[in-house]
Amino acid sequence: MHRNAPATVDTLLTELELVAFRNMNRLQLSIPRGITLITGANGQGKTNILEAVATIGLTKSPRSASLRESMKWDATYSRIRGVLDTGERGLDECIVEIDAREGMPRKRLLLNGESVAASALIGRLPTVLFTPDHLSLVSGGPEERRRFLDIVLTQLPGDGRNDLLRYSRSLLQRNHLLRAMRDGTSDGMELPAFTEMCIASAIAVMAHRQRVISELAGAFTDHLSAFTPDAEVTALCYAPCGRESGQFPTREQFLSEMHARLSRDVAAGSTSFGPHRDDLLLSIHSRPARSVASQGQRRSIVLALLLSSVDLLRNHTETPPLLLLDDVLSELDADRQERFLERLRAPATSQILITATDAADDLLRLARPDHHLTVRNGEVSSTDD
Ligand SMILES: Nc1ncnc2c1ncn2[C@@H]1O[C@H](COP(=O)(O)OP(=O)(O)O)[C@@H](O)[C@H]1O
Ligand SMILES: [Mg+2]
Repeated sequence: MHRNAPATVDTLLTELELVAFRNMNRLQLSIPRGITLITGANGQGKTNILEAVATIGLTKSPRSASLRESMKWDATYSRIRGVLDTGERGLDECIVEIDAREGMPRKRLLLNGESVAASALIGRLPTVLFTPDHLSLVSGGPEERRRFLDIVLTQLPGDGRNDLLRYSRSLLQRNHLLRAMRDGTSDGMELPAFTEMCIASAIAVMAHRQRVISELAGAFTDHLSAFTPDAEVTALCYAPCGRESGQFPTREQFLSEMHARLSRDVAAGSTSFGPHRDDLLLSIHSRPARSVASQGQRRSIVLALLLSSVDLLRNHTETPPLLLLDDVLSELDADRQERFLERLRAPATSQILITATDAADDLLRLARPDHHLTVRNGEVSSTDD
């Protein structure tokens, strides 16, 4: 394959094949290097294609919790197949399939024909997805910001993903026990052990998130300065367990918080302290951006955050992430669109997929797509010459 490639070890998603995924019966696409613009009227399948691509990268849908939902309504078997060109390391075939032919839908991941765990696939194709929902990242609740952080975190090398899973499992287990105590079906004998497990994984999760946030903060000011003059006074910091002071609870403090809150937590049937209450604080002149930033400033902050996450993934995975921009460019003013695309392109991103309802002249001029596909009723055609 001809390449005018930058001198990075980059991974490309060269082929995408879908079987009974959302509104697509069967779809086969080759995705070249560069910017691919996908256009089509509403409801034709643009987001579905990006969802499928993101599912290759993340092993689960960024959109719905259950892959069953993304299976074509009348189907009992659905598959997403991606071929990754890893340069010198050759080709990898990644498959995410859902099989409901024998009743309960089962999900299976395959790497080069062998059944594997999610950890064997995640990180192979670092992916950053940007949708209109992200535009409320600053004004929305902490949950959206945690999700943004965790999507980055799970794709980094290391134990981040494992520790997040460990924490959510131990939290579920502890909450389950709290409810049993409330309902009088348990005397809470296991509570100290469950609490310990929660705390151990909570501390690991907070350390990962802290690291991600401080690395994001490194690139953030620079990116933000492309969009707003307030970059220097805009700050990004971590609020572990929602503590706006930024103070990390030690193991002992954690334990005493859990203790102090016990009767309330039993009554509520859920744990009220821990990194499931974490937040990513954004401030301008030390005031919460959520309340003081204009809509323009909030959008600038979101763009800078996304660009910082692209840098972070590239630095740690040694490959530029695949970027998926779903219907967002039209939401930005021309100036922001231009600067955002300029920065995304700058250090040689290898693949960007952009969706839009129509190929407006402005968009074509700004995005300068290398390829142009159109989607109609789940079918894709190329409009490249
Ligand atoms: N599980 C599914 N099975 C079949 N069709 C689906 C499924 N989920 C969504 N769709 C259809 O996909 C279409 C939406 O596709 P989408 O990618 O969101 O469109 P857009 O081009 O606007 O981004 C709708 O027509 C919807 O009915
Ligand atoms: Mg869409």
